[in-house]
Amino acid sequence: MKMKKIIVAIDGPASSGKSTTAKQLAKKLNCIYVDSGAMYRAVALFLLQNEIDFDDKKLLRKALLGISIEIVPSRDRSENTIILNGVDVSKKIREPEITNYSSTIAAEGLIRKRMVELQRKMSEKQSIVMDGRDIGTVVFPNADFKFFLVASIEERAKRRWTENQNKGLGKKTLIEIKEELAFRDKRDSTRKIAPLKKAEDAIEIDTTNLSIQQQVNKIFGLIKK
Ligand code: DC
Repeated sequence: MKMKKIIVAIDGPASSGKSTTAKQLAKKLNCIYVDSGAMYRAVALFLLQNEIDFDDKKLLRKALLGISIEIVPSRDRSENTIILNGVDVSKKIREPEITNYSSTIAAEGLIRKRMVELQRKMSEKQSIVMDGRDIGTVVFPNADFKFFLVASIEERAKRRWTENQNKGLGKKTLIEIKEELAFRDKRDSTRKIAPLKKAEDAIEIDTTNLSIQQQVNKIFGLIKK
């Protein structure tokens, strides 16, 4: 039986469990998974590497035309490789400098416009689970399913700290991570264009006390219903 093409939008603040949930959900639904944050991270890396000041709109317009971002799923769809202009930047874009700068450049309208175009294009021919900050509000306002994940800042800081330890990026203390998350949340949710916010028709899920498996099962159950 051929399944209807579906779009699932998952938004929420950093470390609310979006990416891990979205990835596993895409696998269960047999569709592609796109981490839109990785796209903003790739742009941030490109601008830094090429020393492009994004306040210079003329230069930025030209630069955006020269950026190619490919998201290549692994065979089992458990991971994506992010290719920026032909180079695998999957690891590099997770570095703390890029994490911080991606939130700064994501407030720029020209960058958002280009990312939204690319994101919509990705959904043209296939079912997709996309996570980010504005997926249910701006990118796919007509998505079939919209979820907004939240979790307490303490829990999110703990998750990020553990993730950093596991990836060998563990220099920051829990308190530093908590402060950075709060700062990034504020910047992402107070910017003028496409701020982080729950779409009116999104289902909010508090993941503070849920395991990844519980989050995935809950969302999968809601979609099946
Ligand atoms: O999801 P993430 O933490 O990897 O995203 C990095 C930054 O990119 C985040 O601080 C805000 C920005 N972002 C955005 O503005 N819109 C999206 N749809 C996804 C990410």
